[in-house]
Amino acid sequence: MQAPEMWMKVSREKKKGSCCVFSCTTRAPSAANEREGLIPTLVKENKMSETISEPFDLELRGLSKHFGKVVAADKVDLKVQKGEFLSILGPSGCGKTTVLRMIAGFEEPTAGEILIKQERVNDIPPFQRNVGMVFQNYALFPHLDVEENLAFGLKIRKMSKALIKEKVERSLSLVRLSGKGRRRPSQLSGGEQQRIALARALIIEPDLILLDEPLSNLDAKLRAEMRVELKKIQELVGITSVFVTHDQEEALTLSDRIVVMNQGAVEQIGIPTDIYESPETDFVARFIGEGNFFEGIVKKVGGGQAVVELDNGRLTITAACKESVQVGRRIKVFVRPEHIDILPETQMEGENVFKAIVTFMSYQGSTCRYVCSLADSEKDVIICVKNDRGVVPFSSGSPIVASCSPNSCIIYSSA
Ligand SMILES: Nc1ncnc2c1ncn2[C@@H]1O[C@H](COP(=O)(O)OP(=O)(O)O)[C@@H](O)[C@H]1O
Ligand SMILES: [Mg+2]
Repeated sequence: MQAPEMWMKVSREKKKGSCCVFSCTTRAPSAANEREGLIPTLVKENKMSETISEPFDLELRGLSKHFGKVVAADKVDLKVQKGEFLSILGPSGCGKTTVLRMIAGFEEPTAGEILIKQERVNDIPPFQRNVGMVFQNYALFPHLDVEENLAFGLKIRKMSKALIKEKVERSLSLVRLSGKGRRRPSQLSGGEQQRIALARALIIEPDLILLDEPLSNLDAKLRAEMRVELKKIQELVGITSVFVTHDQEEALTLSDRIVVMNQGAVEQIGIPTDIYESPETDFVARFIGEGNFFEGIVKKVGGGQAVVELDNGRLTITAACKESVQVGRRIKVFVRPEHIDILPETQMEGENVFKAIVTFMSYQGSTCRYVCSLADSEKDVIICVKNDRGVVPFSSGSPIVASCSPNSCIIYSSA
């Protein structure tokens, strides 16, 4: 399907230290656009929107699992659309594997329902669920060669020899390992073993595939390569996938949607941009990417903004607030490092403009990451700025002026 076309008007607003700020407005296609100097742009369609539509290949309803007093999964509700790549992301011990094992049938839920292709499978044993699984440690049969590993699930299903041969060859080609069928797993690299594990899960043509931290045992470079490979194969096959990881970058890169879990419960479900840019809870904000938190008391509310007093009135920060925030409440203000700009020292007017001193600078190629100590505060602030060619980064000890738009500030209640 052709991507929808939009026209964009770009105007340069101001030069801010190391970068320029542009404002863009979009307009639907019209004859006047070109005359007025607008640029046509293709709007990338997000495969997933806020509302996902039926049919669902997987649905979890109030799924819970208690191990004695430990609540490993706490009333998890989830719908996974056909062909979707969904990641479950969260820190170690938050219940990701437990949820996956319940879907596969290896763990019995304490409460709740699991539906695969709209059919309740709670009472169906694992081998009858038609679900493929890939584990962190590959779990290949060491005494069987690659072809035998791949053929294993097909033999159990009593498929003819000719069909098994054809499918094994096709699978090997899918994961680009044709010619290595007679090797034992120990004669393959980690990345190759994981590709065989993936092929073995896919060869049975499952309704969905479950992947539990499948890239965690690979070194960083191979991991990045396998990430691309995995996504390509998933898109090619069009298989509905539930992918478990504790690695936020992996989840952000691969997923159509991400489920963030914390202590057995779902914190947020959303497309990667929403999870990163609009974290609904401070746990999600903290867990995904880097950020600055400021705590303070709301002093004034109006016009969709709250003025928050920090550090006993020595600093105030203005933040956009959607809901009715009450004056006098203690809250947290969150802002991403890349949403803070460094201004020329002369530019002190406007909202959210703070004097600071660079205490640590790390040059990261395309960006610089600064740790700055705010004047009139004990707080440090992290700022991430895109590097421009020929512009020398600020060194430690440099006085700077930091600024952020109220719209980049997100408010959370303080517990
Ligand atoms: N078989 C089990 N018996 C007792 N506790 C378990 C068992 N499996 C998992 N747990 C506990 O359940 C919680 C979630 O574990 P798990 O699902 O493995 O987390 P994750 O995969 O997110 O690291 C942890 O506190 C873990 O110790
Ligand atoms: Mg786990």
